[in-house]
Amino acid sequence: MHSVLFVCLGNICRSPLAEAAFRHAASTVNLDVTVDSAGTGGWHSGRAPDPRSIAVAAKHGIDISRYHARQVKALDFSWFKHIVALDGQNLSDLKSLAPAQAKAHLSLCLDHVPGREGQDVADPYYGDADGFDVTWADVSAGAQGLIRFLQSQ
Ligand code: 4NP
Repeated sequence: MHSVLFVCLGNICRSPLAEAAFRHAASTVNLDVTVDSAGTGGWHSGRAPDPRSIAVAAKHGIDISRYHARQVKALDFSWFKHIVALDGQNLSDLKSLAPAQAKAHLSLCLDHVPGREGQDVADPYYGDADGFDVTWADVSAGAQGLIRFLQSQ
């Protein structure tokens, strides 16, 4: 069974969208996978996603209004085979948080999109609603690439 954890800073904007896009894409190809998302920071723990993330997911037919933010924990590094960071800062924070014996494979979301390796999914939190459409496009592309990668394993 594949398992993927998407991680951003607050777990209220980008990683819930990545989780939703990936969950949706995986179900359309019948890929059996456990998916979750978390934040490197804990300020928003327990909260629903940002209303702008809920709105953009709804625009694509997906309800994320019942998701709840949580912070990354040490056990995530053994529970998930793949931990996918939304930006480079999240990735370096994950590397610092990883227990010494951690086995999870770490990558960036856009590493899974040919030609966009190493790029960040930009943080839309301080911008306007249009930024969330860009986030959706980026995480959807990442989800498709990640599915191709998992299917090839
Ligand atoms: P996210 O966006 O990491 O995509 O969930 C953010 C959410 C909250 C904050 C920053 C980014 N914040 O500073 O509270």
